[in-house]
Parts: sequence; structure tokens; C-alpha cells
Amino acid sequence: MWDNKVTELLSIEYPIIQAPMAGGVTTPELVASVSNAGGLGMVGAGYMEPDQLRSQIKAIKKLTDRPFGVNLFIPSNFQISKLDFELAFNSLQPFRDELNIKEEIPVLPDSKEDHVKFPQLLNVIIREKVPVCSFTFGIPSEDDISMLKSEGVILIGTATSVNEAVMNENAGMDIVVGQGSEAGGHRGTFSENGENNLIGTLSLIPQLTERISIPVVAAGGIMNGKGVIASLCLGAKGVQMGTAFLTSKESGAHKVYKEAVIQASDSDTVLTRAFSGKWARGIKNQFIKEIEESQTPIPDYPVQNKLTSQIRKVSASRNESRFMSLWSGQSPGLAKEKTVKELIRDIVSQAEEIKASL
Ligand SMILES: Cc1cc2nc3c(=O)[nH]c(=O)nc-3n(C[C@H](O)[C@H](O)[C@H](O)COP(=O)(O)O)c2cc1C
Repeated sequence: MWDNKVTELLSIEYPIIQAPMAGGVTTPELVASVSNAGGLGMVGAGYMEPDQLRSQIKAIKKLTDRPFGVNLFIPSNFQISKLDFELAFNSLQPFRDELNIKEEIPVLPDSKEDHVKFPQLLNVIIREKVPVCSFTFGIPSEDDISMLKSEGVILIGTATSVNEAVMNENAGMDIVVGQGSEAGGHRGTFSENGENNLIGTLSLIPQLTERISIPVVAAGGIMNGKGVIASLCLGAKGVQMGTAFLTSKESGAHKVYKEAVIQASDSDTVLTRAFSGKWARGIKNQFIKEIEESQTPIPDYPVQNKLTSQIRKVSASRNESRFMSLWSGQSPGLAKEKTVKELIRDIVSQAEEIKASL
């Protein structure tokens, strides 16, 4: 039941990928536990510096000798004038006042920084012989793809539409993650506006598998064995699950964040640009409500992300979820605080029971 092209390419037992979750969720313990339980653990390295990534990889290697992967953000170009940057900074002053943050206006972000860091991160992946690398927010250059492939790295792209999946296949990706609009956090949309491109997993996956010949992995709202079997029935060869692993014991998500997800119900998540400037799905809280009500223009990612960073950090340090980004998919009602081993064991046994009963 479990052996297919995805398990073969990734050298894993079950076609279950723990979604990369940048921002401290994917601890070495989480990544290694998923790989040790027969799935594929993934490091969310989107915000990491090369040295941080290197030490994270070394820590994972101490905990597992099984394959795991690293996920990177394709750098974006952005422009903002000094005046708009200052206006955006000032519009967040009420939140700083409420948290008593005395923050100086940060240096205007430089669009080149992420472009300089990207090849350095790739270099770490190659040097450390990480077997799998996935990308979101775009597709790497032809040169980067051929360099990674010549080193034997398995490449996973992200698509939120048929068009993006075809682009990933044409670029030479080995696997595509099809991310439905249920997905938690930022989706990888790169060919159109993330708000206009809301195709649900049930619609997206069979349309992708009709159009491309590389294996498709389903993501968005999948929490248990039922979701896994449904995805396989739609033609996917595997699943990528974020929210389900976010609340696991090994996840690095903040305690109040895990609690908020576990207590949330189906209608509690919204799409917002409030925290980062890029559309993302999370649990609606005071920050999102007040930003929406104020109707102030929000600068694009990564500018808004940088401007809200201190507010999110201080809010977390006070164990208050009011101003934290609480990314979650649309199925938080199924989230449980289990160990990774229990979670994967339960997913596998539920899927096997369903298969037997069909
Ligand atoms: C907290 C959080 C952070 C995420 N960060 C990333 C990321 O860094 N890179 C990425 O490709 N996807 C990221 N995602 C999206 C996941 O890859 C995946 O598509 C999503 O979690 C699937 O939906 P689900 O949460 O309902 O399982 C993130 C998701 C969450 C919940």
C-alpha cells in the first residue's frame, strides 16, 4: 500500500512529509523524529542564516541517520520608498505602545540581501549532503537546479495551480507539492496573486495529476489517515502535513500557539497579509482584526514581516497570543498534542483500516 514513486525517490517508508515550517517550528527533534518514524522530516530554513542552517543539519544528523530535507524561499524583489517605510512603521505604533516596545525605526530592508544569501544556503545543503531540497515562492534558476541535481539532491517544487505545477515539471523538479487553499501559513503561489488563486486540495490535486507526470504530493487540511487515503484516491503519491505536526510534542511552536491551534475550530482561520505582507492562513486574533479595521496600506513581503517582527517576538515572550502570527490550516479542530511517533503510527493505522474496509 505504501510503496510508490515518492517513497522510492525519497527512500522513506511512508509517503508522509512533515511540512517545512520556517520560524522555529521545525526543531532538530521534530525533523529527526518524523524521519525516524518512517516519514520525511523537513527543515523550514526560509528565514535562516547559512550558519544556523549548518548547525541545524548537524544536530539532525546526530538524531537520525535517515533522509530528511531542507526548504528554502525563492528570494523576491521588492521596492519601498523611505517615506512609505516610515509610514508603515508608524502605523504599527499603537501595538508597540501597548507592548511597551521602544523600537527605533529599522534600516530600510535591502532587496539584494536574500539574493546573496540564497546561494550560500544552497552551498550548505550540498556540503552537508542533504538528500532532499524543496522550494516555495518560485522556482530556482536553471543553473541552481542542474548544480543540485548533479549532486544527487532530490528536488521538490510547490504549486498552487496547474500552471505552476507545469512550470515546476518543465524546470526539472522531481516531485511537486500541490498546496490547496486550506493550507496553513504562506502558500507558495508565485505566478499570480495569492488571494485570487484559492483552489482547494480536492479540486487541485486531481487536476495536477491529470496534467503532469512527476509525482504530486497533496498539502492543505490533511490531518489524519482519512486525509492521507483521500489524497491517494485523488492521485497524489503522498501528503505534506503542517498543522498536524505543528502541535506535536517535538515541535518548536510556542506553548500558547499550540494551545490556540488545539482550541480553534474550523471557522477560526483567515487569510491575511497583516503579519508579513504576503497572504497566509492563520487563526484570527486581535492583531489581524485591528490591522484590517485600520485599513492602512500594508507593504509587501518581506518588508511588513520585518516591521512586525519585534511585536510578534515581545508578544510571544509574554505568553500572549494576541499579536503573534498563529499560522494554521483549515482543520485545527483535528489537531492533537501527541508525540511524532504516536501521530505517524495513528495516521498509518487509520489509513490501513480504511483501505481494508473499502
Ligand atoms: C506554521 C507554518 C509555517 C509554514 N512555513 C512554510 C515554509 O517555510 N515553507 C513552505 O514551503 N511551506 C510552509 N508552510 C506551508 C506548508 O508547507 C503546508 O503547505 C501546509 O502546512 C499544509 O496545510 P496544513 O497546515 O493544513 O497541513 C507553513 C505552514 C505552517 C502551518
